[in-house]
Amino acid sequence: MTAGEDRASRTEDTRRRTEDGRQRNVEGAFPSSVRRCRSSGFLPLWAGLMILGLAVVVVVLLGLLGISILERRWETQRPPVVVRPLQQWEPNNAVWGEDYPREYESYLRTRITDTRTKYGGSYPRDYLDIDPQEVILFAGYGFSKDYLQARGHYFAVQDVTKTARLIRPFNAATCWTCKSTDVPRLMDQMGVKEFYAANFHDLTKEVTHPIGCQDCHDPQTLKLRITRPALQEAFVAMGRNINEATHQEMRSLVCAQCHVEYYFRTDAKAGLKNYLVFPWAKGTALEEILAYYDALEYSDYVHAISGTPIVKMQHPDYELYLTGIHSYRNVSCADCHMPYRTEGGVKYTDHHVQSPLLNIANSCAVCHRWGEDEIRTRVEGIQTKVETARLAAEEALVRAHFDLAATLQAGASAQDLTEARRLVRRGQIRWDFIASNNGMGFHSPQESMRLLGEAANLAQQARVEAARLLAKRGITDPPKYPDISTRQKASEVAQAFVAGQGTKLLP
Ligand code: HEC
Ligand code: HEC
Ligand code: HEC
Ligand code: HEC
Repeated sequence: MTAGEDRASRTEDTRRRTEDGRQRNVEGAFPSSVRRCRSSGFLPLWAGLMILGLAVVVVVLLGLLGISILERRWETQRPPVVVRPLQQWEPNNAVWGEDYPREYESYLRTRITDTRTKYGGSYPRDYLDIDPQEVILFAGYGFSKDYLQARGHYFAVQDVTKTARLIRPFNAATCWTCKSTDVPRLMDQMGVKEFYAANFHDLTKEVTHPIGCQDCHDPQTLKLRITRPALQEAFVAMGRNINEATHQEMRSLVCAQCHVEYYFRTDAKAGLKNYLVFPWAKGTALEEILAYYDALEYSDYVHAISGTPIVKMQHPDYELYLTGIHSYRNVSCADCHMPYRTEGGVKYTDHHVQSPLLNIANSCAVCHRWGEDEIRTRVEGIQTKVETARLAAEEALVRAHFDLAATLQAGASAQDLTEARRLVRRGQIRWDFIASNNGMGFHSPQESMRLLGEAANLAQQARVEAARLLAKRGITDPPKYPDISTRQKASEVAQAFVAGQGTKLLP
């Protein structure tokens, strides 16, 4: 049942219940003889009409109440109760927790690390072990060495410190931006530009508190607020003002401070080093993001096998969500990931941000009257289809990288490969837009399938182009593709290319 039908049927239920109730009251109040009397004209017409009128008003009011509960208008317009104003940049979640124990205790549950769902949950899943094709797609870049699934917010500082040790050089303080409540304080002290330009390792002692209260709330009023300048600036670049966002939009925008695509801008003339920018000036759709990067001739790395300049996507969760049905119907990130909970008669927002599949009853089932198993099956059904399309796109892209390398081994020049590399760049960014997204496409199934389909198509076009270049040189057999069936084998192949000693691919 869709939520629309759901709402209609609930209104219908309410109406039916109301009428049953009225009937019961009537039956309880009058003995059957009186009822017979009344039905034969005991009450004057005006009284009957008045009762009817009242009944209509009651039914309409109950209907409206039902709708407003469904849309959670009451909850979302409820101002938070401020116990006492906190210090402006208070980074310590435990201090906030003294006044808001329920929110704090539920927040602390983001420490749980042993939950798993088919494609998500909170345990250290290593994407490269599961899918060695990604080692090839990121050849020449850090992600080909280490790519772990995200964990709860509580671990953000710990996990980025570990990654920093693994992937060197990793010196931009900018990497702290989405990890800690100490960031707004440091930006205020140091200046935003100066914060970004600092060395990551120099701030290790300053940045200790993981993502928390300060990141999303005003310490004086507890209202939701945006603390990260990159999001404010991205709105300005789009000609919008984030201060005009509705309360319901804020319930997603607090997440969009971090769960987005971004890059570090360095521009000596403008005095910027590693300045955090969301590439939204032309819009948030993939095509608009790519047009933005193309105009800057931006790339994160040159692919070690095909020589293609690649833009690595980070995790454009918010951008993909914007293209989906829930965003269209004004359902926010918090509606699914921070649903309401009741404890001892007190209703509060569950701050255990996690996979909603671990909490279906409080998240999805509030709006969808499908059974829990059915909800899980529907989500997994969507995700499995997206995964299939994703693996197909990967296979085509991996082949494309090798095909381009084969043409180089056959003596093709960089000039010859311009068009083929352009196709691979456009294909890989589409694949990565979905692959790097959390939720395996659930946030927008149609957009996910569209982009993965285009990714495969662009990769195949690049392969046709490569085949043409090989044929020109008298080679008509397909290249010999190396074995990349395990992470180990794929890493050896990638590293050989990085070292300039790639496997011989020509037949
Ligand atoms: C309609 C409900 C819904 C909305 C709205 C929603 N999500 Fe999700 N989200 C899901 C589901 C379902 C999953 C898949 C969870 C899984 O596979 O275990 C998911 C997965 C995720 C994950 C990965 C979690 C994990 O355990 O793997 C992240 C991160 C995430 N969403 C962030 C967001 C952000 C940020 C927004 C808003 C921009 C958002 N979501 C909006 C339902 C939603
Ligand atoms: C990722 C963003 C985020 C973080 C981090 C966060 N909150 Fe919230 N908080 C929200 C959202 C969203 C709501 C719902 C607010 C609304 O709709 O008005 C909320 C609501 C609240 C409320 C209002 C009462 C309620 O439960 O609905 C309190 C109090 C609160 N949070 C305290 C905290 C405390 C204490 C922390 C740190 C331990 C914290 N929050 C961390 C996003 C966040
Ligand atoms: C200050 C930056 C920041 C904000 C704000 C933020 N997140 Fe996150 N989120 C992260 C980072 C970083 C991780 C990965 C942490 C790790 O793996 O150590 C993460 C992880 C997650 C996960 C995975 C947790 C798990 O157990 O699988 C979910 C789900 C999620 N965030 C949803 C949200 C939602 C919904 C919001 C808004 C209500 C939000 N986040 C706000 C930075 C942020
Ligand atoms: C606040 C209400 C709300 C919440 C919470 C919510 N949804 Fe929805 N969902 C909607 C609305 C509204 C639609 C659009 C229905 C329509 O327009 O017919 C929708 C549509 C869908 C659809 C597409 C239905 C179809 O027939 O195409 C799926 C699947 C879905 N939701 C799954 C989920 C899951 C899974 C969750 C929990 C992770 C969830 N929803 C949470 C309101 C919600």
